[in-house]
Formats: sequence, C-alpha cells, structure tokens
Amino acid sequence: MKNTQPLLEKLQMGDLELQNRVIMAPMTRSRAINPENAPFDIHIKYYQQRASAGLIISEGAQISKKAVGYVNTPGIYSDAQVEGWKEVTEGVHEKGGKIFIQLWHVGRMSHPDFHGGELPHAPSAINPHSKSFTPEGFKDTETPKEMTIEEIKQTILDYKNAAANAMKAGFDGVEIHSSNGYLLHQFFNRTSNVRTDEYGGSIENRARILFEVIDAIKEVMPENRIGVRLNPSLHGIFGMTLDEETIPAFDYIIEKLNQYDLAYLHLSEPFNDVSEIPYAEKEIAKRYRPMYKGTLIINASFDQEKGNKVILEGLADAVAYGKPFISNPDLVERFAENGPLADWDQSTFYTPGEKGFTDYPKLSVSKSI
Ligand SMILES: Cc1cc2nc3c(=O)[nH]c(=O)nc-3n(C[C@H](O)[C@H](O)[C@H](O)COP(=O)(O)O)c2cc1C
Repeated sequence: MKNTQPLLEKLQMGDLELQNRVIMAPMTRSRAINPENAPFDIHIKYYQQRASAGLIISEGAQISKKAVGYVNTPGIYSDAQVEGWKEVTEGVHEKGGKIFIQLWHVGRMSHPDFHGGELPHAPSAINPHSKSFTPEGFKDTETPKEMTIEEIKQTILDYKNAAANAMKAGFDGVEIHSSNGYLLHQFFNRTSNVRTDEYGGSIENRARILFEVIDAIKEVMPENRIGVRLNPSLHGIFGMTLDEETIPAFDYIIEKLNQYDLAYLHLSEPFNDVSEIPYAEKEIAKRYRPMYKGTLIINASFDQEKGNKVILEGLADAVAYGKPFISNPDLVERFAENGPLADWDQSTFYTPGEKGFTDYPKLSVSKSI
C-alpha cells in the first residue's frame, strides 16, 4: 500500500496545493495560559511538529471576549494574540505546512464566570444543561441571554474582524466553526432556537447567520480560503438535540454552500451511536457527497484503512484526524510507512504545559529508544 494510498495523494484546494489528504482536525488544548490568552512557544512547537499534515486546522480560537467558554483557549481578537499566532504560522510554513485557524464562538456553552457575572449569549434563552470548563473547573451551564439583533450584527462583525486578524497573522485560511453545539449550530436547530424574528422560525431564517458570517468574512479575505465545519447528526452531546427539521436544515445549508467558492466543507460523521435516534442521518458522507460540489473533508473515528477507503469510494476528498494527531505528530509519515500508531492520553488533553502536548515522539525517535 506504500505511497499508493489515496490519503497520500496531493489535493488541489482552491488555489492551495495540499501535499496529502491527511488533515489535522481542530482540537482545543487549553494551553494559552497567559493574561492575553495568546499562543506562545509551546504552540509553535506543537503545530510545527504536525506540519506534515496536508492541512492543519487550528484549535478553536475565540473571535471576541464574549465568544469564550473554555479556560485557557487562545483568541484571535487582540494584537497580542495576532503576534502569538504569527509565530505559529511562520513555524508551520517554515516546515512546508499549511494552517487554517478555526473561528469559534461558543454561545450558550459558557458560564457567567467568563463574563464578569453576565450571562453568555445565545439565539434563545434555553439552557443546554451541559458543563462549562471554567477557571474553577467544570460548572453547570446556565440559561443564556437571548441575543438582540444588534448583538447578532456585532457578532458577525466580530467574525469579520477575527478573519482579518487571521490574515494579518499569516494563516492560509479560516474555518468557521458552525458545528458541535456552539453558537452557529445553536441557531440551526429548533430545540436551541425559538426566535420569532428573521433569525428564527423557518429553516432559511435559522441558517441566515452562517451566510451572513461568510459574506462578512469574504470582505476581508478570498472566498476560496474559507472553510465551514458542520456536524449534522450531533445528538445528546454539547446540549444538542435533533428534531424533525434538523436534517432538512442541513440539507438546505449544504445546498446553499454550493453558491460559494469555499476552500472546503468539513463534515463530521455522528460522534456517537445514533442508530436508534429518530431524525438522525447515520451516514453523513453518503448523504452529502452527492449534494456538495466543492472539496469535502470528512471526520470522526477514521483510521488509516477507513480513510483510504472513503476517498477511494469517492465519498470525500480528504480526511480529518483528531485524536490520532495528538499522539502521532508524524501521522502522515506513519501512514506512509504503514507504521504503528501511538495511543493518546486523554488525561492530558486539556492540562497545562508540554506534557501530552509536545512530548509525543515521532516514530523514528520511539524506534531508537
Ligand atoms: C481534545 C479535543 C479537543 C477538540 N476541540 C475541538 C475544537 O476546538 N473544535 C472542533 O471543531 N472540534 C474539536 N474537537 C473534535 C475533533 O475535531 C474531532 O471532530 C473529534 O476528535 C473526532 O475525530 P477523531 O475521531 O479523529 O478524534 C476536539 C476533540 C478533542 C479530542
């Protein structure tokens, strides 16, 4: 299978040529421990170590102070954050890699502790009954504040500002985080959005904010450097509940994304077993590959064999790997060698410092130990 693997073929993504189709999925690592929540040396090292990925999608980066919901996550709204990220992108480019930043607003998946005691913002005042990872540990979420139209418009501007900052910081592009139960996803589903204005009610209204965000970002960077992430069958995680209009809403969104010349659409297969869940689409790539005309990245629980297969079958153009990239910085080389993969240690996913972050060795190093 050496070097004839679909995963190892180049991929033309807009005007970018990716060296392979092994994408590093966005992963929050909660290590931006400084008053500015800016990336620093250990982030440069971490991303540089993984630069042989066809494309790195960074951890979620909050677009504003209001967008945060997890402790020690980096932002992309201040000058210090831009400076920090600049060194990260330079480090990755030096190694021949490419990197997009994930633009993140958690919406109701936050806690008043992050907002000087004020409530987090969301489409509607509905508690996700989930947990927020605050400076004092995990706390129960509270009922958020329903956003006013002005707050929605400001948030769209925050996305635009964050994208402009991303360009300043030297990123190759941005991924709009509209999945996993965060702000934009909260607008899509009827169980989290009961608004009666132009951002609620019909499917078109519930999807509106995503397209307004794309249109705003397009003003500051090329459309073909914008990616969109969606997780249509998310259920029972991050406060999301499927309803009978969820999949029709995603059908509408994905059809409409064809009107844009995006870098890619990044979809997740169901994160958990939804075989018994009403209204769940069980096979995301099968449903949406025929529908979406642009570059499609697929994610969740892929290994080398399944990744090669999904591309060979024409169901996706590239595969995003999350946890395997945590413990295998040289995942691409390991695939090329058909080498063994190291296991990840869940206990260090979100802990401070280099342990479990930059100390996973390459295969060549572990072989010589
Ligand atoms: C530690 C950790 C942090 C994550 N943080 C993010 C994130 O910031 N943004 C995002 O879209 N997904 C995030 N995810 C989800 C991953 O991108 C991916 O969808 C998930 O891990 C499934 O892929 P895998 O089976 O290859 O790990 C995270 C996952 C993990 C394990």
